[in-house]
Amino acid sequence: MPKFREIKGSDCAPGGRVEKACDGGKLAILTQLPSNGFLTKANTMRHHFLAGCLTVAVAAVGAGSSAAQDVIKIGLVMPMTGALAATGRETVDGAKLYMAQHGDMVAGKKIELIIRDDASVPDNAKRLAQELIVNDKVALLGAGVTPSAMSMAPIATEGKIATVVMISGTSVVTERSPYYVRTSFTLGQQSGIIADWAIFDGSKKAVSILSDFPPGAEAGKVFEQNFTKGGGQVLDTLKVPLANPDFGPVLQRAGDLQPDTLFVFVPAGQAGPFTRQFGERGLNKSGIKLVGTGDLVDDDDLPSSGDTLLDVVTAGFYSAAHASQMNKDYVAAYQKATGHRANFISVGGYDGMHLIYEALKKTGGETDAETVVAAMKGMSWESPRGSISIDPRTRDIVQNIYIRKVRTIRGEPWAIEFVTFEGVKDPLKEAAAK
Ligand code: PHB
Repeated sequence: MPKFREIKGSDCAPGGRVEKACDGGKLAILTQLPSNGFLTKANTMRHHFLAGCLTVAVAAVGAGSSAAQDVIKIGLVMPMTGALAATGRETVDGAKLYMAQHGDMVAGKKIELIIRDDASVPDNAKRLAQELIVNDKVALLGAGVTPSAMSMAPIATEGKIATVVMISGTSVVTERSPYYVRTSFTLGQQSGIIADWAIFDGSKKAVSILSDFPPGAEAGKVFEQNFTKGGGQVLDTLKVPLANPDFGPVLQRAGDLQPDTLFVFVPAGQAGPFTRQFGERGLNKSGIKLVGTGDLVDDDDLPSSGDTLLDVVTAGFYSAAHASQMNKDYVAAYQKATGHRANFISVGGYDGMHLIYEALKKTGGETDAETVVAAMKGMSWESPRGSISIDPRTRDIVQNIYIRKVRTIRGEPWAIEFVTFEGVKDPLKEAAAK
């Protein structure tokens, strides 16, 4: 269990409430949260397949095909429709915003983005990745949600195409291809920390509600590991279908079990419907503490959540309320370009393009997958979410995880960060390496 360190002095605007934290189990004053504005600076603490003819053809035709030319094509295979459509829109909006801000010329070559809709269906993703390599001659790929990223991994490997994973939050995805590099997140990075927080905050009996697909299973697994290690008990794990979820039956069952804490993972696009059903049943006033990964307080849905999520604490890597100037600029530019509040999915696309641009600058425009991935390994930069880097060992993202509480500021709910865990790696890969 991490130690929550006392923060002295005032890192943030005055007038806020005192929060608690622990240091070796003792309660301590942690910080003050502003009642009328964003934190000026968050307090910080250190914490420590398909093989066969077609793919062979891909390997022969795909590798380096556009490297010698003046255009570098990047194919994004994204869920623009279907169960996870919100994530596709947000990622593409983030990627396009990056290009609008940084131009479309890198290392003397013109960058061309090609977007293909896999409709949230893994088989489509595989086919589209093949077509992008063989027909469109893309030099790089962007992969989206977990099932699709898993499905197209052998294509990226056989075709030798460097691929940036921009949405998937499942640990194992980056191991499916040596050419996969992730700019999104893992669920374990967040759900372990929120379990530790819940234990610290007095939780003893939890029920988990999880969207029934791989990132949900992973969020639940890491939550349970840490929660149990801290002396808590998970009374039950309830699954909700990914497509057209009805949260009524699981909320009923969860309430009946009378836990002190409800841990929830729903993917981007479903926080809104979940919150509505949670509120309609009066569960926000039942005394059951709601906790989750950042997905639960998705900034795309928060503005319309009323006061149902007020005071809910989550562990996440991005909040539109993150207090850096870079993030304020990002949120303003994203709002202007799209009409939406920037969210945690959008930064995967924005940072994904940054990683590609900077890697191409390093390789002088060379797009050979081994060369590009070598350039990406160990790269670190300032993102709207804070400092991030690519772990050279795992090709996975290393990023801050913030503990945040929902507050109303200037009439709208925001997830306000009040503890920072710096440089968090994927806990499942770290455990496996031990
Ligand atoms: C995933 O595909 O792994 C995924 C999608 C949406 C989320 C989280 C994870 O909010």
